[in-house]
Amino acid sequence: MAKRETNKMRLRRRPRRMRSRTFVRDLVAQSNLASRDLIWPLFIHAESTPAAISSMPQVQRLDEKSLLARCERASRLGLSAVALFPCLADDLRSADGREAWNDDGLVQRRIGAIKREFPDLGVMADVALDPYTEHGHDGLLAEDGSVLNDETVACLARQALSLAGAGADIVAPSDMMDARIGVIRESLEHAGFSDTLIVSYAVKYASAFYGPFRDALGSAAKLKGDKRTYQMDFRNRREARLEAELDVEEGADMLLVKPGMPCLDIVRDLAELSPVPVLAYQVSGEYAMLAAASEAGWIERTPAVLESLIAFKRAGASGIVSYWAAEAAEALGELTGA
Ligand code: PBG
Repeated sequence: MAKRETNKMRLRRRPRRMRSRTFVRDLVAQSNLASRDLIWPLFIHAESTPAAISSMPQVQRLDEKSLLARCERASRLGLSAVALFPCLADDLRSADGREAWNDDGLVQRRIGAIKREFPDLGVMADVALDPYTEHGHDGLLAEDGSVLNDETVACLARQALSLAGAGADIVAPSDMMDARIGVIRESLEHAGFSDTLIVSYAVKYASAFYGPFRDALGSAAKLKGDKRTYQMDFRNRREARLEAELDVEEGADMLLVKPGMPCLDIVRDLAELSPVPVLAYQVSGEYAMLAAASEAGWIERTPAVLESLIAFKRAGASGIVSYWAAEAAEALGELTGA
């Protein structure tokens, strides 16, 4: 027996023992991250070359060829899906966003191209009118400038049907209108798209962290007012439960919480109460903060990115939508002691 040093305390519990060796740390790690946990959001446009987005370093609006190259990388890395967001030319934007349900629209064409080349890669398509409206809101506007609920829901159902018809595996309503999940589910069933999944952005707060995304879509300058009459007030927690319960009742297959890191408490709440899996969206502003701080040399990029993603898993998320998805999947080995 090793001789006791006289200046040592006799402790029964030394939590540090469990952290003292790499293999023990890896053996008992409670949360883990796999490339299958990740969904990669990609911005697309109809141009023939990619374009930079100033508030999101290294993220681009992609032309078809570079989009397919990203999808090849996503498949190779084993990411579960890509999520498409279009940046439209001004002349395709209108008051009612009708381009959203054009079966030959940009997103619809790109979904077809991806599914032809990478049939096993999941494709998620956003359901909301903001890329398509000239005013940048997610729904239709009344004369007084308010956002109409029921009339918008009818448009969203048309958009969801068009995206499902183009081959989207998942339609993801991000608009926060009341009752849209039920109406979309009903329309999909009616049209025979019974295998199309609905990921509901059930709990979406009106957030300052969406700023860079609106730059990417070109809707920041267009947006009149804000989205606080439909997106949730970030001072509230109870309401998240109501939104989640309604969407589950209406037929959502998964729920999504957004923004991500500011809402880890909500991810945890939903993970505990929801009968369906919960995803988190690490949004554009969160990406921009990590990118900026690491570019300035203030934080170390890869460890910070992995830590931020593990935080969602620890909170109970089944998966994460993140602009870091591919880079994180490439760096997964760094999570363990290896
Ligand atoms: C809009 C939509 C937004 C995001 C996803 N879908 C922005 C908004 O509500 O204005 C934000 C994603 C991000 O910031 O990364 N329907």
